[in-house]
Amino acid sequence: MPQDPLIEAAFAVRKNALARFSKFLVGAALEDQAGRLHTGCNVENATYGLTICAERVAVFKAISEGARSFKRIAVAADTEVLTPPCGACRQILWEMCGDIEVLLTNLRGKTESVRLRDLLPRPFDASFL
Ligand code: THU
Repeated sequence: MPQDPLIEAAFAVRKNALARFSKFLVGAALEDQAGRLHTGCNVENATYGLTICAERVAVFKAISEGARSFKRIAVAADTEVLTPPCGACRQILWEMCGDIEVLLTNLRGKTESVRLRDLLPRPFDASFL
């Protein structure tokens, strides 16, 4: 069955995850308005707290490449209950991408589409400043 290229990209980059402490590998793929895909994996470090999630790596890579508006993001992990973005990633996604579609997916072929608005109700953002 042909797979969504965004989901394929999230699975592919998940293999690059540097998750030697948690062993929890995550891949993210972010599609910009021009149709370009920006990928990220989680990168852990020995102090734990400086770990960065796959979603934020994808967002920051995309911003750094000049992308400014986005359509959707896919998040791939190997959990039965689909892994959603953490709170910090929801905040960054909201501020950089707005109410995008978030595709949650696992290695067993389960996929669910949610809106970021539903993952982050009543968000704080620059409109308050
Ligand atoms: N992680 C992500 O990369 N994205 C998520 O959506 C959930 C958590 C990472 C952070 C850490 O490296 C590992 O998964 C365990 O929390």
